Amino acid sequence: MKIFLVGMMGSGKTTLAKKISKVLSIPYIDIDEEIEKNENLKIKDIFERYGEEYFRKLENDILEKLAENTQSIVVSTGGGIILNAKNRTILKKENAIYLSVAPEKLKDRVSLENRPVLANNKENIIKIYQDRKELYEQFKTVDITNLTEWESVAKILYQYDIKNDAEIDSSFQKVSINAGSLKSLPPDSIVFTSEKVNELYGEYLPQKKLVLPNGEKTKDISFVIRAYEYLLENNVSRDNLLLGIGGGTITDFTGFVGSTYKRGMNFSFYPTTLLSQIDAAIGGKNGIDFKKYKNVVGTINLPKEVIIDPLSILSLNDETFIEGLIEGYKMALISGNDFYEYFKENMHEILNRNLYKLSFFIKRSVEEKLRIVEQDFKDTGLRSCLNLGHTLGHTFEAATGIAHGLSVGWGLIKEIEFFYKKKYLEEKEYLEIKDTLETLVPEKVKNIQIEEKDIYYYLSNDKKIGANQKIRFYHENSG
Ligand SMILES: NC(=O)c1ccc[n+]([C@@H]2O[C@H](COP(=O)([O-])OP(=O)(O)OC[C@H]3O[C@@H](n4cnc5c(N)ncnc54)[C@H](O)[C@@H]3O)[C@@H](O)[C@H]2O)c1
Repeated sequence: MKIFLVGMMGSGKTTLAKKISKVLSIPYIDIDEEIEKNENLKIKDIFERYGEEYFRKLENDILEKLAENTQSIVVSTGGGIILNAKNRTILKKENAIYLSVAPEKLKDRVSLENRPVLANNKENIIKIYQDRKELYEQFKTVDITNLTEWESVAKILYQYDIKNDAEIDSSFQKVSINAGSLKSLPPDSIVFTSEKVNELYGEYLPQKKLVLPNGEKTKDISFVIRAYEYLLENNVSRDNLLLGIGGGTITDFTGFVGSTYKRGMNFSFYPTTLLSQIDAAIGGKNGIDFKKYKNVVGTINLPKEVIIDPLSILSLNDETFIEGLIEGYKMALISGNDFYEYFKENMHEILNRNLYKLSFFIKRSVEEKLRIVEQDFKDTGLRSCLNLGHTLGHTFEAATGIAHGLSVGWGLIKEIEFFYKKKYLEEKEYLEIKDTLETLVPEKVKNIQIEEKDIYYYLSNDKKIGANQKIRFYHENSG
């Protein structure tokens, strides 16, 4: 696969190309950097000594070579590359993408350093933009003006046909991994989704969709009523297919509405956060919050199908991504052996959101959760081992209000320390796990201390406390 990015200076082509290179495990080339390397001169010096025409010739030579090459690559081109008609022809053949950014934003972002065409005046960027706009717009355009870097990466990669499929081997729940599946949703289905997912991927969603608020707010009875109304208004029958496309809040909510509307209709999930792909969409627990109680009303009922699009999680913000990663690491700890080793060896690539490493990580996490849930569907024993990190994590979450997944990271650090002190863990294992958690859990979370009395207060309200006021730490061999 060859990806060519075109666009104005300051639009972020190089940063995005570097990220894409890590995501797809393909090399990246910045044409300007390549010219500077070959000539051993900065671009402004090439312009000064030899003039723009000479520079454009060098640019064209490199582009022609890259186009002849069949190797997969992501290329960041110089802003003025489209001025040359020969270059435009090559770039069109290569399906180059124009990264469009509003000129005012470009002016804020661009630096004057090594930008000879700006002639030391940022205002010039507006005129250059107006002159080139029509040429840029001859290419497939992705408007990234209001997108984060990761959102831009995801939007760019959805323009390509990226293959990455895997079936999860389970007779218990039908789950598959299919990159780009958000682009081929069943057209007659009815969709529940969140504002953010609609903003990013709305163009791929079927017409009949109910867009709900982002986050936990959706898991409220008022939105359940709204959802029933929406289904009735659209004459939805039990045989229609309802899709939950979003994070865990959307899959929990859709599962609940789908399980109760007309005593249960067909529903499937397209989970779009890492946490929902490896956890919330798996195992059949659905539900909403009521009053101040989380997940207190719900059902245990499997969706017809779960289709995981690993490309979709590229657009997550860092915090939401890390929340899912911590949950997956917990799964690797529970699983041990090959999955634990895999995580250890590939953690940095997973953190860089390498698509292939991430997909395998998702697959193993899902398999692990299914292995446990299958043995304890109604949550009466073994399933409680999934609470690793959650017991103390919940107290931390209640005391600080910090996001759930990050709080679980804090809980894992403390629980692992406890297991080590109790001699359930060897020193080598303990240090290794501690080291990984040091990398995963953000500084601002790790360093928060909460008072012991607060821990006891919140622990005593935890639903996992038995009548004897003891917390049971489940071990797979403890029966
Ligand atoms: N049913 C279960 O077994 C189970 C297990 C774990 C968690 N949960 C539930 O899951 C919920 C948390 O799920 P979550 O962490 O996915 O949070 P979430 O659903 O609130 O999503 C987090 C944010 O990410 C946005 N988002 C979703 N997909 C995106 C994408 N591809 N790109 C960019 N942004 C995107 C959402 O709109 C939201 O703003 C909680 O309600 C929890 O109770 C359920």
